Parts: sequence; structure tokens; C-alpha cells
Amino acid sequence: MPTYLLTGAAGFIGSHTCVALLEAGHEVVAIDNFANSHADVYERVEQITGRSVKHYDFDVRDRSQLAAVFGRHQIDGVIHFAGLKAVGESVERPWEYYEVNLGSTMTLISVMREQDCFNLVFSSSATVYGESKILPIPESAPLSASNPYGRSKLIIEDMLRDLSSSDNRWHIALLRYFNPVGAHPSGLIGEDPKGRPNNLFPVITQVIDGRLPELQIFGDDYDTPDGTGVRDYIHVCDLAGGHLAAVENLGGLGGAHAINLGSGNGHSVREVLEQFQAVLGRSLPHCYVARRPGDAASCYADASRAAELWSWRTTKTLQEMVEDSCRWGGFLK
Ligand code: UD1
Repeated sequence: MPTYLLTGAAGFIGSHTCVALLEAGHEVVAIDNFANSHADVYERVEQITGRSVKHYDFDVRDRSQLAAVFGRHQIDGVIHFAGLKAVGESVERPWEYYEVNLGSTMTLISVMREQDCFNLVFSSSATVYGESKILPIPESAPLSASNPYGRSKLIIEDMLRDLSSSDNRWHIALLRYFNPVGAHPSGLIGEDPKGRPNNLFPVITQVIDGRLPELQIFGDDYDTPDGTGVRDYIHVCDLAGGHLAAVENLGGLGGAHAINLGSGNGHSVREVLEQFQAVLGRSLPHCYVARRPGDAASCYADASRAAELWSWRTTKTLQEMVEDSCRWGGFLK
């Protein structure tokens, strides 16, 4: 069975991808420095899958430790999740974003080249589309960045495209995630952001448990069916399945290819709030405030490429995303 190395393996998407790979029978070697995650995630992954995870605690930029891991294991491919991902923080501390996101990728690629490993799945983001005028958004849409976080993803995509054009041994999938939400249905792993959340689902869960007084809905006058922002929410287990499909089929991709991972459907903030209220059977405090600067009215994927390449498509509904988030938050049994 192939062995895959995961950087940032203890994080939200990394941990769910560990589960998907182990359940498919693959071996997983995990690296994380717990900058935004917790060490007990591995035990939980083992509890879900009944399989063990070999894990290492260091920063991916530590070249000698990374080379030692490749020396210890025969690695067939790498999924590179490790990186910083908060938009607002990236505006305040841009250099940290470039050091961590670009630095970890550069060290990883250097070590992979030395070790003759040319199979890579990279965590990109739909943020690289900026404010797309095309909906649904295909991979061919124009790219732009409006903050250092997005720019770090865009620069890395460009670096990886240059690399693969210069050396045809590379097989690289640039996975552009839409809005990952939800949690494992077991309630054992989920999103656990350190600090104040900015994204809609973590904000709503903090309103449910009283850590935040109310949900502020950013804008009710967008050109959308109910006036609130529309996004393509994707259940994290579906997203993990997308990584499994990508890594198992990298051989069929020569060069570097961008692939959207989204459902292809949009849901408004209002719909998300109503789904939470329906699942909990109670109303949640909320109010309407001004639009958040930089927010688009609507953003959802053209998800046809992943379906054509790998027969991959999402299976989970908004209701399941909300139920699993609530179970992870301890609000549902
Ligand atoms: C945000 C980031 C994006 C990043 C993505 C990661 C911004 C401007 N964009 O995208 O770069 O890749 O997270 O998941 O930060 N909303 C509210 N009230 C809230 C929070 C959100 O009304 O308290 C609304 C937003 O206006 C939006 C929707 O909920 O319409 C989703 O917001 P969010 O979860 O932050 O995701 P994105 O804005 O899509």
C-alpha cells in the first residue's frame, strides 16, 4: 500500500484527510508543529479508523528533520496542508505569511527533489479567483489576490507551475477549496480555530454556546436571492475525499493542474442561519450590519473538472454540514 506524507496533518482539513487515507488502506506519515492544532487529534484519528498514524512534531521548514522523515519512510506522495490561513492576520503580519507559506513549500520541494519524490497535492484556495465576474467559477477564470494570504497561495501556484514546466517528472494537483465546513460525523474531530473566528460556521457555533452575543450578518443588499452573501460550502469529509481522489490519481496528471473542490451550489448566509436554527430547534440572536470590505456577493465552483478527472463530487447536504458542526460543538448528541 502506498505511503503518503501529510504536512499540517493535525489541522482541520489535514486530520479529516488522514481519516480518509487510512480508511482507504493507505499508510500515513504526519507532520505538524501544532501552530493552530492540537496533538490529541492523532489519538482521535486512530480511534475513528482503528489504525495508527506515524507522526512527527516539527516545522516543515526544518530541512534536516524533513529529510530524516523521508529517510525513514518510503514516501509515494505528499499532501501539503501546512500554512497560515487567516485573511485579516495576513494583512497585519504579511511577512510571517510569506515566510511560513512560501518557506515551507520551498523547503518541502527541495527535499522532495533530493529524495526523488515528484508527487504533490497542494492546498490552494478559491481565494485565488479574487472577485470573480464569472459564475460558477471554472479553473480558467482570471486569478488575483487582494491580501497577503491569497497572494501567498497565488505565488506558490505559480512557483509549482514553473517547476513542473521545467521537469516533466512532477505530478502536481493544486486543489482550490471553496468554503470547508462541518466536522467528522463521529464528533471526535472538527475545526478548532485558536483566537477569534472570522468565518461564518465558527462564528455561529460561538453564538450558540454564548461566547459571542449574536451573529452579525454582513450585508443584506447584495444582488442575491435574499440579499445576503452566497458561498459554496463543502463538508470537510467530502473535501478529504477529494484529496484521496487526487493523490490516488496523480499519475494521470502530467504537470501542475488546478482543480476546484466545491459542491457547485451556493447557499446564502440567511439559509445557513436558518439551517442551524432548524437543527437546534431554537432561534439564534442575529442582526444585519454593513458589508464586510472585500466580500463578493456570490462565489461558487464549477466543479466539473474534478468530476471528469476522478468521478469525484460532493455528497453531503447543508443539513449534514450543520448537524456535524453542532455535534462537534457538543450541541447535538
Ligand atoms: C473567507 C476569506 C477567504 C478565505 C475563506 C476561508 C475574507 C474576505 N475571505 O471567505 O479569503 O479563503 O474565508 O474559508 O475573509 N459572514 C457574515 N458574518 C460573519 C462571518 C461571515 O455575515 O460573522 C458572511 C460573509 O459575508 C460571507 C459568508 O458569511 O458572505 C461566508 O464568510 P466566510 O466564512 O468568512 O468565508 P468567505 O468570505 O467566503
